[in-house]
Amino acid sequence: MKTKILALGTMLPAEMHKLQAHFDVVKLWAEPDPEATLQYHKDNIVAILSTYNGLPVTRRLVESLPNLSMVAQFGAGIDNIDLMALKDRDIILTHTPDILTNDTADIAMALLLSTMRRVVESDMYLRVGKWHSGAFPLSTSLTGKTIGIVGMGRIGQAIAKRAAGFEMDIIYHGPHEKPNVPYQYYADILQMAEAADILMIACKGGDDTKYLINARVMKALGPRGFIINVARGSVIKTEDLLVALSNRTIAGVGLDVFDAEPAVPPALLNMDQVVLLPHIGSATQETRTKMGDLVIQNILAHFSGAECPNP
Ligand code: 8YV
Repeated sequence: MKTKILALGTMLPAEMHKLQAHFDVVKLWAEPDPEATLQYHKDNIVAILSTYNGLPVTRRLVESLPNLSMVAQFGAGIDNIDLMALKDRDIILTHTPDILTNDTADIAMALLLSTMRRVVESDMYLRVGKWHSGAFPLSTSLTGKTIGIVGMGRIGQAIAKRAAGFEMDIIYHGPHEKPNVPYQYYADILQMAEAADILMIACKGGDDTKYLINARVMKALGPRGFIINVARGSVIKTEDLLVALSNRTIAGVGLDVFDAEPAVPPALLNMDQVVLLPHIGSATQETRTKMGDLVIQNILAHFSGAECPNP
């Protein structure tokens, strides 16, 4: 039997075909009986292709594959993967950073503009004919506002560049101050929320950032504050967010990510001060193609004994 790659989710069809030219690809997510499929193929599986929206890479899965030597993630974030399980077996993990930075930062700005300038709501206002009965209510200016970026990594920095173009003041929070970043750093998220008009979430998901944005932070942000999230749903405590939105103790939110996506809390669907996107930060033809090509480059490098470009 040929060596096999276990796919837990999919890349674009063209890149799946390219991968299939080199390996047998077992598409576990599409199997009617994944457990039986796994039992049948497990000894021949040498790599996993994983995606954030696919099946998770659990310890149980890793331990059931005796010849696994690599996990290649189609995406930058790796919070769907049990990292300790990989470490224990010296299994290499690669991901696809950088190439999705600009598209994700663009979506962050699109959400910021849509939420503060009420773009989606005003589009609906026009479509249903309400313009005839009066002008759309006023919205909130971006110019001169302070944007507090949570997570000043690659995506956070790309958002900061864009926010500077909108003449916003930029401050940031993260686990440590970055040496080459010119913006004011806040070690304390509460203090940053007090100073900010907008909290822009662009940090990693996972245990370290779980519920970082909770009722206390929302209170510090205040009733004129907005929250935008292009990171992971887990960074915001959804329960607290729903309360803050219902009580109007924050002004609005723009979300590209959700705790249990694709499930979205039904209460959000009825609120006019929210803009909701179906996790499309990296979802352009160009970027998803590059992400797939990078996954393949990493896999081929690993199996030819070369250094992987994105370990
Ligand atoms: C997903 C993402 O990977 O890169 C990330 O961390 O969240 C996205 O780009 C993409 O939706 C495919 O699952």
